[in-house]
Amino acid sequence: MRVKRIAVLGSTGTIGKKALEIIYQYPDRFKLKAIACWSNIRELEKQIRRFDPKIVAVGDVQAAKNFKTKKKLFIGQDGIDSIASLGDVDIVLIAINTTSALSSVLAALKSGKDVALANKEALAMAGSVIMQTAKKHNAQVLPIDSEQSAIWQCLQGHDKSLLRRVYLTASGGSLYRVAASRFANLTKKEVLAHPRWKMGAKITVDSATLMNKALEIIEAMWLFGLNFEQIKVLVHPEAIIHSMVEFVDGSIIAQLAVTDMRLPIQYALGYPQRFNSKQNIDFLKLGSLHFDKPDLKRFQCLMLGYEAAKTGGSLPCVLNASDEVAVNAFLKDKIPFLAIPEVIEKVMRKHKVIKNPDLDSLYRIDNWARIKTQELLCRF
Ligand SMILES: NC(=O)c1ccc[n+]([C@@H]2O[C@H](COP(=O)([O-])OP(=O)(O)OC[C@H]3O[C@@H](n4cnc5c(N)ncnc54)[C@H](OP(=O)(O)O)[C@@H]3O)[C@@H](O)[C@H]2O)c1
Repeated sequence: MRVKRIAVLGSTGTIGKKALEIIYQYPDRFKLKAIACWSNIRELEKQIRRFDPKIVAVGDVQAAKNFKTKKKLFIGQDGIDSIASLGDVDIVLIAINTTSALSSVLAALKSGKDVALANKEALAMAGSVIMQTAKKHNAQVLPIDSEQSAIWQCLQGHDKSLLRRVYLTASGGSLYRVAASRFANLTKKEVLAHPRWKMGAKITVDSATLMNKALEIIEAMWLFGLNFEQIKVLVHPEAIIHSMVEFVDGSIIAQLAVTDMRLPIQYALGYPQRFNSKQNIDFLKLGSLHFDKPDLKRFQCLMLGYEAAKTGGSLPCVLNASDEVAVNAFLKDKIPFLAIPEVIEKVMRKHKVIKNPDLDSLYRIDNWARIKTQELLCRF
């Protein structure tokens, strides 16, 4: 068995940290070559001591000024992209939590590396460019997001043309049982209290608005070549079934596992092999599984996501950029919770959709959507 050489971008985040633990735990399978963060130097220093990567990158130039290391150091966005295209790396795991991951995804794919992708924002912005680049350079995009990993696992050994539909499951996030009448006055603490998953702040807010599910619909469309009508969202509060695929004969295959992101990370890095983990489901303790329809009235972001996914072209790019800015403002206590869907919808309405945008157009549209969102947010 050949040892896979890995670079982890976003190593100081929730997914990045779990990925480092897995790589460390299986030295006969993986070798950590490089890590990158944005500005969390304290965590980065700890990681250098514990995991001993050869190369390190810090995205934030200011933060890098106070950082001393004996390791080879790259700085800035270009520095992170250099790590994504290092010669002696087989897989680049991308756990950056913003759309800025896109340039690293493309840098890795262009140098023929497989990308283990946790980041969904880059796919929402430029899924067509990413998938075309992967194809052109004979590289793979290996999903880490648990729902996409589930679909990927369910499809193993099956002809994709025999797929009828996909059931994308959603735990419901922190607000599943919260009445709409309370939404206007929700605190950040309530929104960030996810019942099942411990994640970074941005994705936790996206889970509460169900924008996360909207982004995942777009993600699944690109990763598996699905059309919008083939994807059904099901609320499944236990979050044990991570998604299901239905074939033309009506048979459904589901992937079940405990809620632990180490499993999809491990699957993506080890693919096509599986290897041991201590996790297992206690079905008797679990008792039953439940399913529900998503409430599109309370969760307008999902409705907006349906519209963006169905329309395609440049609209998902606008949805994603506007969401990123709005969520950031919410996390900084600058806007109330309900301003998030309100502003995203307004920005989407102002946009004239382009059918097949190229990368330059997508960067321009992404920037336009951010500026428009910011302008609207100033009114709160
Ligand atoms: N967490 C989950 O369970 C989960 C599940 C499925 C999918 N995902 C996806 O995985 C991605 C990461 O999520 P997370 O929860 O791990 O986020 P997180 O905990 O907030 O971590 C984000 C990481 O990205 C780095 N970063 C931020 N901006 C960057 C930039 N411009 N360039 C380079 N690095 C940057 C951060 O560095 P600093 O620490 O230095 O700021 C940190 O290492 C997201 O796209 C999310 O949607 C997460």
